[in-house]
Amino acid sequence: MVGVNQKGPNGELPFYGRRRGRPLRPHQKQQFETALPALSLPQDVASLTGLFPHDPKDIYLEIGFGGGEHLAALAEASPQDGFIGAEPFLNGVASLVRHIEEQQLGNIRIWPDDVRLILDQLPDHCLAGAYIMFPDPWPKRRHAGRRILQQSMRDRLARLIRPHGVLRMASDHAIAKSWLLAEAMADDRFTWQATSPDDWRQRPANWPKTRYMAKAEKEGRAPSWFEFIKTA
Ligand SMILES: C[S@@+](CC[C@H](N)C(=O)[O-])C[C@H]1O[C@@H](n2cnc3c(N)ncnc32)[C@H](O)[C@@H]1O
Repeated sequence: MVGVNQKGPNGELPFYGRRRGRPLRPHQKQQFETALPALSLPQDVASLTGLFPHDPKDIYLEIGFGGGEHLAALAEASPQDGFIGAEPFLNGVASLVRHIEEQQLGNIRIWPDDVRLILDQLPDHCLAGAYIMFPDPWPKRRHAGRRILQQSMRDRLARLIRPHGVLRMASDHAIAKSWLLAEAMADDRFTWQATSPDDWRQRPANWPKTRYMAKAEKEGRAPSWFEFIKTA
């Protein structure tokens, strides 16, 4: 549950981000408390079968969904698929719950905690893709171990994403961009899809906006968009 687990799994670094922001307004709190239990992944989730009310064609994972607008837009555009979002920041989880209720989305399930706590128990090749949008950059060299795309995360995603599935990442931060690109390019289990600069400079039409993306654009920072395919 949110805020309970302060340790990282398997001896890894703990989650260093914020777990709470300003207090939820009473109606947000009530919506969150009423709706979240039915939307949450079970603590001991070991299979994605039966997780959604329908039998999803494909299942995608968003790591660190922030306010949830990207995940909600994807879920609305592809009702035949299932979407899992992981986010330890309580206010972000409350925001996604609001999107789910307002947009009446039946194809999102939430893990309101550190994503690393569930990945090792999921079956091989259960995901058609994963999204890491505008991850915390942790720009200082001494904090590099906190960046989300570590070798251990690549190992997990390489096991969980099925052959020819996608790994999509974006960032507006120079150090984070270089890190994401270098880490993924150094891994022959993932193949970068770019063939021209526009492929990483222009937001693909089917990548919905995120809150950080909007902030970056407003403040004049150019995001980069990286799409990798999991090799067979
Ligand atoms: C800079 S924010 C970006 C949020 C959102 N993707 C966007 O573009 O608006 C990064 C998010 O990643 C989340 N995050 C960091 N480490 C995580 C982890 N281990 N598991 C799940 N989420 C994580 C943070 O809580 C934060 O909300």
